[in-house]
Amino acid sequence: MDNLDKAYILVVDDNPQNLKAIGSVLKEFEHLTVFASSAKEALRHVLRYNFAVILLDVQMPDMDGFEAAHLIRSRERSSYTPIIFLSAWHKDEAEVNRGYKLGGVDYILKPINPDILKYKVNVFVNLFTKSSLAVNLQNELKKRLRAEQQAKKQQRQLELAQLERTSTMEEMASAMAHELNQPLTTIANYIKGCVHRLNEGKYKASDLIEALQLAGRQAERAGAVLHRIKNFIRKSELYLEPVAIQELIANIPTLLPDEIVGTKIQLIIKPSKKPLPKMQVDKIQLEQVLLNLLRNSIDVLENSAQLAGKIIIETLFRQPKTLVINIKDNGPGIDPATLPQLFDLYYTTKSHGMGMGLSICRTIIEAHKGNITAFNNRRGGACFQITLPVMDENAHLIP
Ligand SMILES: Nc1ncnc2c1ncn2[C@@H]1O[C@H](COP(=O)(O)OP(=O)(O)OP(=O)(O)O)[C@@H](O)[C@H]1O
Ligand SMILES: [Mg+2]
Repeated sequence: MDNLDKAYILVVDDNPQNLKAIGSVLKEFEHLTVFASSAKEALRHVLRYNFAVILLDVQMPDMDGFEAAHLIRSRERSSYTPIIFLSAWHKDEAEVNRGYKLGGVDYILKPINPDILKYKVNVFVNLFTKSSLAVNLQNELKKRLRAEQQAKKQQRQLELAQLERTSTMEEMASAMAHELNQPLTTIANYIKGCVHRLNEGKYKASDLIEALQLAGRQAERAGAVLHRIKNFIRKSELYLEPVAIQELIANIPTLLPDEIVGTKIQLIIKPSKKPLPKMQVDKIQLEQVLLNLLRNSIDVLENSAQLAGKIIIETLFRQPKTLVINIKDNGPGIDPATLPQLFDLYYTTKSHGMGMGLSICRTIIEAHKGNITAFNNRRGGACFQITLPVMDENAHLIP
């Protein structure tokens, strides 16, 4: 392919003698001169090269210089290429004007004066060289600018990745602290209870065994939670398996400390009237969501003047393919002004709260392609509503 920066010269004449003569006048441009013995051949060259100037014979058989000029001008690549007509004689003024209108910039009469030809060609070659220098400079500047922008973008991406890594670690550490707090507290309580009874000397072995078994279960659960959080935050990985949601919910009270549910607070589970299909969910993560929501309700009920604290977990099937879980309490409810930031990370109204529970819930539910919202019940108290798409065992929505 041609070099776009080179100032090529096209000489078009049907007479080989003339081509030779012009070639010898333009000897100093020898390596840049392209010859054509017909308008058609000239047009082919015009498609391949960027010419600094075209010297075009007017009188040619088949297609004359004017027609050729018209076609040259109509091609985008050569629409501004200077054309000098070579004419054996001056026709009338109308003819000359036609040449100019067709984009010719000059006429040279034959027989050609070598000095005039050289001079004129030189002018256009210089012009071309200067303008391509300017274009090159402009391109170089553009390239440098692009490179700078690219470097800045890469730097920004690096910074963002760094930030993301730090915040992922921060998030992971906070989430672990949050989710492990409850099982660890429960384990400590069971063990303290055992030690106390052993010290007092008043114990039945079966009671101690049961307490230690419960502590062991919580410890195992803490291990599972740790594992899931690590995988979830690092790789957004869920361990999906077919789960009977009703059973999962029915099992939730066993994961809460005994002294809370059943004594101070009534926990009511209202299962769906319709049988529910097994759902593709991450069991441990979904339990964490429910535990976090229950923990919040328990917190508000323990701290409110409400004497008969009540929490309802209700499950509904909403047509066509949605499972709805409502966690309602009869606490003070949520200040509507705080609703927009309720699920934000670190938003808390508690003196010892981490503000993580709801944020973790939302992340887990959204990873299941579901939704979680909060509103106040008509008769007071808060309601947290989870909606989950009903999936089959291959994690597809049931049609
Ligand atoms: N059932 C509820 N009734 C009223 N307000 C609630 C209820 N659940 C949550 N909230 C409000 O939402 C805030 C955020 O809850 P979230 O669980 O994210 O954090 P937290 O409970 O404050 O702290 P932690 O990280 O320890 O869970 C709470 O501080 C509380 O103000
Ligand atoms: Mg909470």
